Amino acid sequence: MVQPYKHEPFTDFSVESNQADYLKGLETVKSYLGQDYDLLIDGERISTDEKIVSINPANKEEVIGRVSKANQALAEKAMQSAVRAFQSWRKVKPETRADVLFKAAAIIRRRKHEFSALMTKEAGKPWNEADADTAEAIDFLEYYARQMLAIKDGVPVNSRPNEYNRYDYIPLGVGVIISPWNFPFAIMAGTTVAAIVAGNTVLLKPASTTPIIAAKFVEVLEEAGLPKGVLNFVPGSGAEVGDYLVDHKDTRFISFTGSRDVGLRINERASKLNDGQIWIKRVIAEMGGKDTIVVDKEADLELAAQSIVASAFGFSGQKCSACSRAVIVEDVYDQVLARAVEIAKDKQAGNPEDRSNFTGPVIDQSAFNKIMSYIEIGKEEGKLMLGGEGDDSKGYFIQPTIFADLDPQARIMHEEIFGPVVGFTKAKDFNHAIEIANNTEYGLTGAVLTNNREHIQQAREDFHVGNLYFNRGCTGAIVGYQPFGGFNMSGTDSKAGGPDYIMLHMQAKTTSEMY
Ligand code: SER
Repeated sequence: MVQPYKHEPFTDFSVESNQADYLKGLETVKSYLGQDYDLLIDGERISTDEKIVSINPANKEEVIGRVSKANQALAEKAMQSAVRAFQSWRKVKPETRADVLFKAAAIIRRRKHEFSALMTKEAGKPWNEADADTAEAIDFLEYYARQMLAIKDGVPVNSRPNEYNRYDYIPLGVGVIISPWNFPFAIMAGTTVAAIVAGNTVLLKPASTTPIIAAKFVEVLEEAGLPKGVLNFVPGSGAEVGDYLVDHKDTRFISFTGSRDVGLRINERASKLNDGQIWIKRVIAEMGGKDTIVVDKEADLELAAQSIVASAFGFSGQKCSACSRAVIVEDVYDQVLARAVEIAKDKQAGNPEDRSNFTGPVIDQSAFNKIMSYIEIGKEEGKLMLGGEGDDSKGYFIQPTIFADLDPQARIMHEEIFGPVVGFTKAKDFNHAIEIANNTEYGLTGAVLTNNREHIQQAREDFHVGNLYFNRGCTGAIVGYQPFGGFNMSGTDSKAGGPDYIMLHMQAKTTSEMY
């Protein structure tokens, strides 16, 4: 009997034995730094001359590993493998498919700190953020496996006398999974296994900055007994391999997490019918955010300042859920701003292997350059209260940055920066604050700090985001507790870690038999 789902607990790193376990994980990772990883196609490991080199963003000199890079010919081979494997995998019992996920979760749980430490090295995640990422990966495996079991016998529909009607969810076919670097384990694993447990076969193209954690996950699924061809691992460039697979006539669906622009591009390409294609491709896209925390005048102001700082600067603001806008009702504006600056002063960016650093680097040079250029724009548009400095000599470090007194229409209040930068703006009253909060093209997360019950109700109805939080920050959704995904330019309105997520990878079939 499968136990009810409960999320994986976070590690308490104030406990010395937990610290020791994490450091041991780091030692394990160090023992395999710089190794080569292959593609996996139809169960066969394939090495190519061209490699993607993954480096430590906190220390550019350190190579985490080198991954073979697929080209179009290999992508085609992988596609054929996935097409073949679909014919058998779709008939494997849902219980058996779920068991692969349960075993993979158990393997990861045993090696938890190793995976987290690998993300500290490869993605620059501080201990607690890496630990949460690993926990979320485990949660996705545990949760989606149970969701599959819940619908394995279909969903009830009515039948009349002498009639037997069924309504069953069947898989779609071959899916292309294009995963991001900011949750290099959780989202990569979650989007992959949601598709697989539903009976689809997939081609996984991980983010080029974090392919090693993905290669390790592929090994875990093999160890857990996933048959060959069900998951094909094809790291490669978006322009070469990504486009080729998105366009392919045999691709049935694309599950993408990443930027707005790439998401829109994929959606557009996927809408085009190619020779031999007999379906409309489905696109599941999780895109950007420009997420707002609103602070009402009747609120716990200390909690408000803490929530803004934690949501803006955790993992250097590189979460689509990160708070990049603080909209404060004018009566309490000065107080919340001053307190947020004071708290953030102690939240330095530094090497994430050192637990005393609150946050680590940003992911790469182009992210560093982009964020620094937005900081320059912010200096023109608002008042720099904290931070503003970056140093890319050793790694890509940018200090937590706060701008005040921004116009709600300012560029840094609208464009996604994806870094440790938050802009403050003043609202005349609560209505005005909600109006400002809704003035972006995104609609992912938001939070409202208020003790006014009517304002909570008003925000529930009018603050248009997929994940709305009250009296807390706006990051850290938990699988199965706060299904995650946004509206408008934040994506296709899907909810990862939600009860209907795996159905997005399936289609319902009605059968009706007369007796
Ligand atoms: N799920 C993450 C969060 O809620 C973002 O991707 O912070």
